[in-house]
Amino acid sequence: MREALTSARTEDLDAAIRSSIVQLCIAAHQEEDFKHLFSYIPSDGLHVLAYREAQLVGHAVVTMRWLQPEGQPLLKTAYVDAVATHPLYQGQGIGSAVMRHLAAVITDFEIACLETEHVSFYAQLGWEEWRGALAGRRGTELIPTPDQKGIMILSLAHTPPLDLDSTLTIEYDGRIW
Ligand SMILES: CC(C)(COP(=O)(O)OP(=O)(O)OC[C@H]1O[C@@H](n2cnc3c(N)ncnc32)[C@H](O)[C@@H]1OP(=O)(O)O)[C@@H](O)C(=O)NCCC(=O)NCCS
Repeated sequence: MREALTSARTEDLDAAIRSSIVQLCIAAHQEEDFKHLFSYIPSDGLHVLAYREAQLVGHAVVTMRWLQPEGQPLLKTAYVDAVATHPLYQGQGIGSAVMRHLAAVITDFEIACLETEHVSFYAQLGWEEWRGALAGRRGTELIPTPDQKGIMILSLAHTPPLDLDSTLTIEYDGRIW
């Protein structure tokens, strides 16, 4: 059976859907902290939702951040969080379908980025792991993150040519990556 995919702004999600998203993320990640998910997401976050019948089985959310590859202008970035497939439905293509739908609805952005422990899952969907140095940016201060692994980017229609071995920075907005 195929999943139905849709996208919605955070501000348009009612309490029941928010609760379903939180429960899905907690179940997939085994991480209770997802109960605070909606306190971190701005109202214009963009959610991708996958349903089997009436059940929410897949999710990802995009918020806007600003990446800067060395020598490039700031790039309007679709930063992806809370990627989750319900444990009973994993391995059935739902996570891949969510990420493909996400790539199709972020045409307003210049690049996409995420942090993961599952590089191979995203690599088969066209994402590339950054190989160069990584840092946060707070005003003019650079905060190196030399131990950070698993930062991946997805090139979109308006992404400039990138050197994955150069330095990549992201604005600090309460977190770095
Ligand atoms: C990672 C996750 C979103 C993948 O969703 P899914 O619906 O199971 O993924 P798919 O069925 O589309 O898998 C597609 C491919 O990726 C592979 N894959 C799935 N999960 C993977 C993982 N954790 N690591 C590496 N590869 C993975 C699958 O084997 C499959 O490969 P195949 O097509 O060669 O068989 C899901 O396993 C999940 O929610 N995990 C727990 C939460 C989590 O880690 N989220 C991601 C945080 S960045």
